[in-house]
Amino acid sequence: MKKSIVLIGFMGVGKTTLGKELARKLQCGFLDIDAEIEAKYGMEAVDIFNVYGEKEFRKTEREMIVDACQLEGKVISVGGGAFMQEEIRKACMEHAIVIFLDMSFGYWKERISLLLPTRPVLQGKSLEEIKSLFDERQAIYNEHHIRLPIDNLDVDAAVQTIHDKLK
Ligand code: S3P
Repeated sequence: MKKSIVLIGFMGVGKTTLGKELARKLQCGFLDIDAEIEAKYGMEAVDIFNVYGEKEFRKTEREMIVDACQLEGKVISVGGGAFMQEEIRKACMEHAIVIFLDMSFGYWKERISLLLPTRPVLQGKSLEEIKSLFDERQAIYNEHHIRLPIDNLDVDAAVQTIHDKLK
């Protein structure tokens, strides 16, 4: 494996969990961009948004992903908002293999209460507003190399499917 793999998809669909397992299966390194950003600021994303603002978070996210996607042989999970930035989309599509973890809203919405405390972008939004955000982002995630529908798919099955698709 030469090009790195970038996992995209809405927040909380399992990019980090799946990414770790995929990296293990492919015997390569794993990079979680959100964890890297949180390590840089020494605080969780929700606090970075509160203290430094979303603009600062997005700038750091952009710089890290544009660099990381040019590395060789890594599995990289990026935050659900990353692909909203054209510069990130372009760099990932050019340098890496972009895999879209596609979960339906009906399936995803069962996770909302679990995600709310740690996802700044969801806070203060109604279900309708979250659904609009979901739809807006699905359109952006359409830029990818491989799409994996993941409703009802456990981690092992998802990793195996990606592994087969990469052959
Ligand atoms: C965000 C998603 C989060 C994190 C930040 C912003 C978003 O990552 O990057 O809270 O805008 O969708 P996950 O997709 O891993 O939840």
